[in-house]
Amino acid sequence: MIYLDYVATTPLAPEIKETYIKLLNKYFINADSAYAPGYEVSGLIEKSRSHIAKMLNVRSDEVLFTSCASEANNLAIKGTAFQYMNRGKHIITTAIEHSSVANSFKELADVFGFEVDYLHVNHQGALDLDELRHLIRDDTILVSTMYVNNEIGVINPIHEIASIIHAKNPKTKYHVDCVQALGKLPIVLDDIDLASFSAHKIFGLKGSGLLYKKHNTSLVPLINGGQQEFGLRGGTSNAASEIVFAKTMRLALEAREEHYAYVSKLNHYLRSELLKRPGIVINSPVENCSPFILSISIPHYKPEVLVHALETYDIYISTKSACSSKHTDVSHTLAAMHLDDEIAKSALRISFSHLTTQQEIDTFLKALDESLKNVKKQR
Ligand SMILES: Cc1ncc(COP(=O)(O)O)c(C=O)c1O
Repeated sequence: MIYLDYVATTPLAPEIKETYIKLLNKYFINADSAYAPGYEVSGLIEKSRSHIAKMLNVRSDEVLFTSCASEANNLAIKGTAFQYMNRGKHIITTAIEHSSVANSFKELADVFGFEVDYLHVNHQGALDLDELRHLIRDDTILVSTMYVNNEIGVINPIHEIASIIHAKNPKTKYHVDCVQALGKLPIVLDDIDLASFSAHKIFGLKGSGLLYKKHNTSLVPLINGGQQEFGLRGGTSNAASEIVFAKTMRLALEAREEHYAYVSKLNHYLRSELLKRPGIVINSPVENCSPFILSISIPHYKPEVLVHALETYDIYISTKSACSSKHTDVSHTLAAMHLDDEIAKSALRISFSHLTTQQEIDTFLKALDESLKNVKKQR
């Protein structure tokens, strides 16, 4: 199998799997039980929280465990909106967010009467920071942008965005979806109020996420329950997942620079090979882009047909984000970039990791060439 869809998810690292199984076997006790084994489990959860906090250079009480990054995004956005709605109901996001962010904003507008502004992007997927500067008002309570876009890889200048927001309105909270940046780019949270992370994008468990929430930011909980997660997220702690997250993050951060350099070379190699093929367009910008993601378009070829053609070679890439891959419409990210319709309609996403080899890239290129010969062009 040649897997080139690491943005959708990653395989579980063997050392994480081993630790997780040990934890599952040993620690079934409820972390909230008021007897010694319960205290032992909650102690391990708190140890993991404090390791994570150290790695992110934040306080332990600023780290909340969630069931996934989608939940972290929902909690950050709706929790902040509900908390500060008495101050104002104006919120801002971008036109290229993950569905968990985009649909949280949509719900806040449609169901709860918030006013949402969507920041535009240019042909390269870059935000217009002047537009942001002009949109922030006295009643703007929240801005949410991703760090790395999951479809084309464009990197947002999150610290420049933070300084624009906080200079215009120091009370506006800034949330960053860091899912595709963790283990790839440096994460500095000093000027960020809320940030979301996911374990399964960094060779960890599915169903395991994190929300960083600065101590001076308050949230209305979305899952009411007991005392878990400082009362901000009810539900019996998923102890083994939470305990193993610290190790997952440590492994990702320790290898970050090495993996980045390795994947950059692979990306460069694939880009240069693809550019030799007339008719292939590269959508991911050269500058300010994550090397882990390469979006291309092959106009006049249906992307789903090419994905399935490659599948016959046991090669796996995607058309767009996995969460929206079952909808056949154009990717909202590419639509927001106002690319030529034919380019937007024919996008494919290839994503790499340190496990990808150059030989796999060569096999992919050969299979792509053959598929383009065999698959019918749409006119
Ligand atoms: C940018 C981004 N945000 C959020 C998510 C959601 O992560 P999870 O699968 O942990 O809910 C993803 C996953 O595809 C993503 O790429």
